Amino acid sequence: MRKNIVAGNWKMNTTLDEGVELANELSTMLENRPVNCDVIICVPFTHLVAVRGVIAGSQLQLGAENCSEHDKGAYTGEVSASMVKSTGASHVILGHSERRQYFGENNEQLLAKTRLALANDLKPIFCVGEVLEERENGSYNDVVRGQVEALFELTPEEFSNIVIAYEPVWAIGTGKTATAEQAQDMHAHIRKVISEKYGNDIADNTSILYGGSCKPSNARELFAKPDVDGGLIGGASLKAADFMGIIEAFD
Ligand code: 13P
Repeated sequence: MRKNIVAGNWKMNTTLDEGVELANELSTMLENRPVNCDVIICVPFTHLVAVRGVIAGSQLQLGAENCSEHDKGAYTGEVSASMVKSTGASHVILGHSERRQYFGENNEQLLAKTRLALANDLKPIFCVGEVLEERENGSYNDVVRGQVEALFELTPEEFSNIVIAYEPVWAIGTGKTATAEQAQDMHAHIRKVISEKYGNDIADNTSILYGGSCKPSNARELFAKPDVDGGLIGGASLKAADFMGIIEAFD
């Protein structure tokens, strides 16, 4: 059966020292405290190696926030999937709305990134989600369908290593959470879209996370929904106590 997952996305926050301290705090809090979900922290590239050292032996898993669509070579400033893998990371966030919106990442590039991540044994946390206008004009189901379908060139075996994160853009960092019902409806829709292509087994085994102003006070209600398998947490993942509060929503 699919896993419950709580993943933090630190975005472009924390210096190296601050990041190491946050990871340390989290791993201390998790010591001798079995939890009912996988816990992943996705951190800036510059922090990966140091954070890996801090969380070694803990329940925390490590992820990056992006990787290049290119394998290697003359792409100054880029970081490849194999480089990410070589730091000890197991996951990588791809297609975050901030990447799509501010860096113009399109479906073709995201498919290339996903393929490289998978080829390097990284599990992509692949983000989808509509903007406010699309929510308001009622096209959100089609928009998200299109974003998921961008991955449909993957083989079933490849697709079974994908985690999906539904992050309505209007809910990210705005304090405006999707209602648990809105999240459930979209997650069920995504699962149906996946099942149409890959069948019920793969759809049922795909973890679909919710992201967008998720916090300790609303996580329990969101995670209680049958198709919501956890969260991708921005702001609240930067405070160890808040992140723990969200992890504990799976009790
Ligand atoms: P917030 O939790 O800060 O709304 O961010 C969500 C997000 O974008 C996680 O990837």
